[in-house]
Amino acid sequence: PDTPIRTDVLVVGAGPAGLTLSTILARDEVDAITITRYSGTANSPRAHITNQRTMEVFRDLGLEEAVTEVATPNEYMRNNVWATSFAGQEIARLETWGTGCERSGDYELASPSRMCNIPQHILEPVILQGAQDNGADIRFSTELISAVERSDGVHATVRDRDSGEESTIIARYIVGADGGRSTVAEEFGFTFTGESGLGAALNIWLEADLTQYCDYRPGTLYWMAQPGNDYWVGSGTWICVKPYTEWVLLCMYDPNEGEPDISTEALIERARLTIGDPDVDITIKQVSKWQINHVVADDYRRGRAFLAGDAAHRHPPANGLGTNTSVQDAFNLGWKLSAVLRGEADDALLDTYSQERQPVGRRVVDRAMKSVEDMGPISRALGFEPGQSAEDGWASLNALNADPKRRQELIEAVELQHFQFNALGIELGQKYASDGIVGAGADTGGVGSDPGAEAGIRSGDPDLDYVPSTQAGSLLPHAWVDHERHRLSTLDLVGDGEWTLLTGHDDAGWAEAAAEGSRVTGREIRVAQVSMGGEFNDVLHRWVSLIDTADSGALLVRPDRVIVWNCHERPADPAAALVEALNVGLGRKPTAA
Ligand code: FDA
Repeated sequence: PDTPIRTDVLVVGAGPAGLTLSTILARDEVDAITITRYSGTANSPRAHITNQRTMEVFRDLGLEEAVTEVATPNEYMRNNVWATSFAGQEIARLETWGTGCERSGDYELASPSRMCNIPQHILEPVILQGAQDNGADIRFSTELISAVERSDGVHATVRDRDSGEESTIIARYIVGADGGRSTVAEEFGFTFTGESGLGAALNIWLEADLTQYCDYRPGTLYWMAQPGNDYWVGSGTWICVKPYTEWVLLCMYDPNEGEPDISTEALIERARLTIGDPDVDITIKQVSKWQINHVVADDYRRGRAFLAGDAAHRHPPANGLGTNTSVQDAFNLGWKLSAVLRGEADDALLDTYSQERQPVGRRVVDRAMKSVEDMGPISRALGFEPGQSAEDGWASLNALNADPKRRQELIEAVELQHFQFNALGIELGQKYASDGIVGAGADTGGVGSDPGAEAGIRSGDPDLDYVPSTQAGSLLPHAWVDHERHRLSTLDLVGDGEWTLLTGHDDAGWAEAAAEGSRVTGREIRVAQVSMGGEFNDVLHRWVSLIDTADSGALLVRPDRVIVWNCHERPADPAAALVEALNVGLGRKPTAA
């Protein structure tokens, strides 16, 4: 019998969620082991859209530069093109991911970080390097076979896939970051709401030099619409992996009508059809199949087990929220595990992970599914119908431009795509109402609410528009401030595993209060004054336009940049009030006075 290995956290999975969590735990010097079934990181491009919130997480972990270095920059994500083929007729174009003039200001004001396009097989090694630089223990080719909770922890049976040997790991907590077919979810009886197998897709990873067709309309996604194809909604979506020579061609299909031919010849034929230029050389690199699901776990925690990433939420790639939501789950959970394991926080803090992230997951899977449905009007505007002959389809398409009513339908159908491709609200607008937020449940409204409406700020649809807010439960808004001849974001003043108190012009008494808070929690609380002419100088007067606190107020911010407490003005006993807020933020029972 083997001698069990003991650890505090067993992370199952080394995809975007598991690697991010592994990096955070290693940085916080938590005793953790990460295992992954495979011998390496992702071996194909898969998810690629990386939004500003995720880049902010990488910024916190010191990985933003390394990610940016190997990513395709935002400028190259500009155009979403709908066409009959690369060489053929272009039907419509939409400026996306905050690059168009109407939206670029919103995106730039919202975050110090830029969105980018980085396929998963390029992103994962960067996070892995970050985790290993922090000393993370990551074990490849190590598979979780089963796991059970006992009084002393989770007993996990793992198998070394090279030697076939099985061993036991006993952990205080286990995190299932093990993707859409999560073993952890199964072993611990997590329940899910939603539907699986709503459609199927082929990802064909290939090389083809399409520079001449893309240079003048650089983009990430090129949607090909040809009538008479096996799947009438689209004949394939070209996802740019490397401008403009490497691609994933994504083709949807209906498994009820049989599985597609995936021989090299058939795949080349498929690609050639939507390139529309027989002279372009095509080299197939890999092909994989995946399913469309619309599912979210009802709770992200069961006892000592947690789910993060695709293990918890499975949805179509629309809005590009797959890896983003996964990385952000890990950012929420990581510091909480560290705080509980260091004894600064009570186990109850870990309940707030599910309270905060499950509603985000719910919202994300619904948005992604709705965005898929919202593509339908484009096909309808083009006059495509299921079962239609190619001839009829082409005739309908060719008659489009002569019919003002149909032109208008197309304009409106493309307009609807902003909800998928310029949806800053769903990308950035998370707001938490949990037991770890002071005053939550009173007026915070929860995820998807519109705090700006109360604050009197312009706001439209919560999925389209992000409204920065300093209300408790919001993520700290970004503003550029000056400090010793450096330009910093307010986001740079917080995080890095630490708690921060942001004060205003009149900061008397707050440093002493923070020292008392540090003494009580055993965790240093940093203090930063942000104000016009202050330590962090609000020279652009942006911060003052965002906050709703008085000069003597303060914001208490968690390691994951969430505002736990919005103290409008200095209370009579700031230290006592701060300790009370910290107790809430750390899930601790209030200490008797
Ligand atoms: P992820 O699935 O990335 O990682 C799971 C990890 O768990 C792996 O390291 C695996 O080895 C490990 N694991 C699983 N079971 C284990 C066990 N029993 N023991 C040990 N380790 C185990 N999304 C998108 O937005 N756009 C897209 O175009 C695509 N395309 C796409 C194509 C293909 C082929 C796939 C498979 C997926 C996509 N996705 C996608 C989804 C996207 O890849 C997904 O949202 C993220 O990878 C989720 O990240 P996670 O870290 O949660 O899981």
